[in-house]
Amino acid sequence: MNHRILVTRTLVDELIAELRATWDVDDSQLHDGPHSVDELRTRLADKDGVLLFADRIDAATLDVAPRLKAVCNITVGYNNVDVAACTERGILVTNAPGVLDDTTADMTWALLLAAARRIAESDRWLRAGNWHGMKFSDRFGRDVHHATLGILGMGRIGRAVARRAAGFDMRVIYHNRTRLEPALERAANARYVSMDELLAESDFLSLHVPYTDANRHVIGAAQLAAMKRTAILVNASRGGLIDEDALAEALRDDRIAGAGLDVFDGEPNVNPKLLTLDNVVLAPHMGSATRATRLAMARLAIENLRRALAGKVPPCLVNPEVLSRRRR
Ligand code: DGY
Repeated sequence: MNHRILVTRTLVDELIAELRATWDVDDSQLHDGPHSVDELRTRLADKDGVLLFADRIDAATLDVAPRLKAVCNITVGYNNVDVAACTERGILVTNAPGVLDDTTADMTWALLLAAARRIAESDRWLRAGNWHGMKFSDRFGRDVHHATLGILGMGRIGRAVARRAAGFDMRVIYHNRTRLEPALERAANARYVSMDELLAESDFLSLHVPYTDANRHVIGAAQLAAMKRTAILVNASRGGLIDEDALAEALRDDRIAGAGLDVFDGEPNVNPKLLTLDNVVLAPHMGSATRATRLAMARLAIENLRRALAGKVPPCLVNPEVLSRRRR
């Protein structure tokens, strides 16, 4: 019997056609997600595998999906999935790393530059009819060139962000759980520093650590207070890394100069305090949103699913400890 799979989001038709050549596919071509919890549970009840994009998979959902063998994220982040609950039930979990690094790094720079040069705020100001000619002392932003870029989390995306700093003649410092190998450090042209130094020295601080319980609010009131008053904070990783109430206060009181955020705690809801501030640039979690990159992410997730349902080890398995107990 063919495996049955669920695709929770609208993909391009060409990919769906490819999936149909192998599996019975329950697609979402007519109704893009996110779906309600009940709908997701109903649709998963008879499925062997799922291709998902930020949909939440918790233990209760797994309990109503007795055939499920593979949960394949079309994202690099997998904090949407209760991995331990999957492992207990013998379900493989995969993500889609690597293919989105450059696109996400580009987006990080878009936020950094937009916040530094007040692009979004000035666009709103201009459209509102406020521009009556150039003034000498108006619209001052912050220089990016020759400034210090601080990176928290020097994985693939952090390093891609660091490499781009060379074009702006920046000094790059980073903090990471473990220091990089010398060759990687040289390629990123970055110097390892303590968290305290990172906070104190960065003119721009960009977050690239994965979101886990341990680093929830890794940037809170104390960390914001340790940053330069002229600093700009950028986050294209996960919203939960920042205490948004503390950030909103710091931005309101000019305790830091600005922020660029692509991700939020409790997405798609955005902390209302942030919405009232002009010194923060906000984007709706679109760091990997180019057609080429999203297609590459989907293709990688499909390859993971293909291997998982064929009884093989998928290339991007995040819970290898499951292999001894996987469902057949
Ligand atoms: C990811 O892949 O985790 C991104 O946040 C989605 O764009």
